[in-house]
Amino acid sequence: MGESITVTDNRNGASVEIPIVDGGVDSARWRDLLGGVWFYDPGMASTAVTSSAVAEIDGEAGILRYRGYPIEQLARSSTFPEVAYLLMYGELPDEAQLAEWSYDITRHTFIHENFRKRIYDAFHYDAHPMGLLVSGVAGLSTFYPEAKDIFDPENRRAQVVRMIAKMPTLAAAAYRFSRGLPFQFPDNEDDYPTRFLKMMFDIGGEYQPDPALVQAMRVLFILHADHGQNCSTTATRVVGSSHADPYTAIAAGCAALYGPLHGGANEAVINMLNGIGDYDSVDDFIAGVKEGKQRLMGFGHRIYKNYDPRAVIIKAAAHDVFKVIDKNPLLDIALKLEEVALADDYFISRRLYPNVDFYSGLIYQALGFPTNMFTVLFAIGRTPGWLAHWNEMVEQNSRIYRPRQIYTGAPLRDYVAIEDR
Ligand code: CMC
Repeated sequence: MGESITVTDNRNGASVEIPIVDGGVDSARWRDLLGGVWFYDPGMASTAVTSSAVAEIDGEAGILRYRGYPIEQLARSSTFPEVAYLLMYGELPDEAQLAEWSYDITRHTFIHENFRKRIYDAFHYDAHPMGLLVSGVAGLSTFYPEAKDIFDPENRRAQVVRMIAKMPTLAAAAYRFSRGLPFQFPDNEDDYPTRFLKMMFDIGGEYQPDPALVQAMRVLFILHADHGQNCSTTATRVVGSSHADPYTAIAAGCAALYGPLHGGANEAVINMLNGIGDYDSVDDFIAGVKEGKQRLMGFGHRIYKNYDPRAVIIKAAAHDVFKVIDKNPLLDIALKLEEVALADDYFISRRLYPNVDFYSGLIYQALGFPTNMFTVLFAIGRTPGWLAHWNEMVEQNSRIYRPRQIYTGAPLRDYVAIEDR
């Protein structure tokens, strides 16, 4: 045996030697020794729930790679459809493959009229667009009942294509609904980010986004495309592991993303910056964070104990955007917050650095997105990642998720009639 660990049960001296394979040890071998004793791991911080070939993350070194390709190179040179293909199928497409893929994810951008008129119209006018998106993605499963046949690879591909194609349409429709604006049909001549920006903002055919803004959107979609077994991907896998159709599984991913500790953090960052209000209030705000009054949103990460590599790219993208449009006044507050925090022992000792959400909201706001759309943008970017993990899980024929718990409730007791309580 190569590298291994030995676990000894001190109650009876029994022990088991378990090989270390790819940095993991097989829990089934521990179970042989410790039947009925569970590994207590809140938040699954020390548990590898699967093997995966989609994204590699080294949190200590600040490294993120999709299928082996460094995120910096993809952000610089690739397109979002190409990255989506890479995540799904493991290799960069050749010209013919990319042409077919781009055609497919363009041809399926439309959503059924009933969808917009009946499903979205049922919501209150000021509904949060993430609420609409979660419901919308789940609703798609009712339009494509054949999606339940998850073990047919061709069928899986059809749903993958539909979801990558329709997500921006659903997202833009949610926004236009909230503004009382007429729905804008997708223009299939445009590239992916341009098409989305036009569906969002065009009124009367006059909107043409600045190429620098299209570039920023491209980069942001790529940076959000995957991140291993994060909360929303895990939610997608948990639901998918029961063999639910992929729309329902991805709706679970969207729901998980909605929370402020995950995809809602970019919105929370802007609210925080607005709350701080001016440059001179930064020190007081940081003092409050250290006293535990609030968190510094956009800082810290379960995996990265170093600068989040996506934050480096987004910070540079923010500077590029603010060369062509007026600088977001909140940028100065953000830059000072970062400077103060990175020099402060509270953040240094806990290894808290800016994460992907610290600067992304500033760009979104500059592009004209309202804050409640930020998490929706994250969802569009993350869709290929969710799908790649779902597809990988189906191919692995993985088991249904069914963790254990440590029961700490009341011991056995007899029911007491209400008049005797
Ligand atoms: N501000 C202040 N203190 C923090 C922060 C923060 N943003 N994040 C962590 N800490 C402290 C925390 O109080 C704890 O201190 P102590 O040891 O004294 O109790 C220590 O650092 C460890 O924190 P934790 O909560 O155990 O860390 P976690 O791995 O469970 O949480 C996190 C990770 C991202 C939820 C957390 O860092 C956080 O709440 N950050 C702010 C929200 C945020 O920006 N989320 C976006 C994450 S990146 C996008 C994505 O992948 O979704």
